[in-house]
Amino acid sequence: MKSRLPRTLSTAILMTGLLLASCPSFGADDGGLATLRGAPIPKTAPDTGDALKKAIESAPLERDFTQQPPLVSHAVDNYPVTRNFNKCLDCHSWENYRKEKATKVSQSHFQSADGKELPNVSARRYFCLQCHVPQVDAKPLIANTYQRPSSAR
Ligand code: HEC
Ligand code: HEC
Repeated sequence: MKSRLPRTLSTAILMTGLLLASCPSFGADDGGLATLRGAPIPKTAPDTGDALKKAIESAPLERDFTQQPPLVSHAVDNYPVTRNFNKCLDCHSWENYRKEKATKVSQSHFQSADGKELPNVSARRYFCLQCHVPQVDAKPLIANTYQRPSSAR
């Protein structure tokens, strides 16, 4: 019984050693960063995502396709939408949009799933950020030849 623990321990140490030795760029100049296949990963500043987070506050950008939910032309960080409270509607509701100089939510937002016209924004349009995202300067992830149709505004 007595010799069992040390043996397990030394096996663990041996395994760790083998693992480290098999990692090709461990201890190299790149700080040990490598892909699983051992290709080095160039050192760059960490991407903090700040550029993506910053909404472009300007006139609303053009839509890229006709049915696109328009992009939000302002930051939304301080506009919570919870089960009981919707800050967006403080400005975009039909009641308040004139006073706030905001675009009013479209009539389509007052329709229930089975096409009934409702007096208030439909539950399926309540969580605005599900569809509307702030406009940001985001480059296409993959180069493409997509053209905005002339029907999109
Ligand atoms: C304090 C008032 C205010 C609040 C709160 C607010 N907005 Fe806005 N929003 C505006 C104004 C003003 C504009 C600019 C309208 C323009 O330039 O035509 C705008 C623009 C927009 C647009 C672009 C509309 C268009 O004409 O294309 C969208 C979409 C939008 N907001 C969505 C939201 C969402 C979603 C929220 C909640 C997360 C929200 N807004 C909260 C005032 C507000
Ligand atoms: C399920 C997706 C969805 C949700 C949720 C949603 N919208 Fe929209 N919204 C759209 C689409 C699509 C359009 C463009 C077509 C249209 O006008 O119906 C639009 C249009 C708009 C417009 C522009 C209207 C115009 O005349 O140009 C505003 C403003 C807007 N939405 C605000 C809101 C607000 C505020 C909420 C939350 C209370 C919200 N939307 C929730 C999809 C959505």
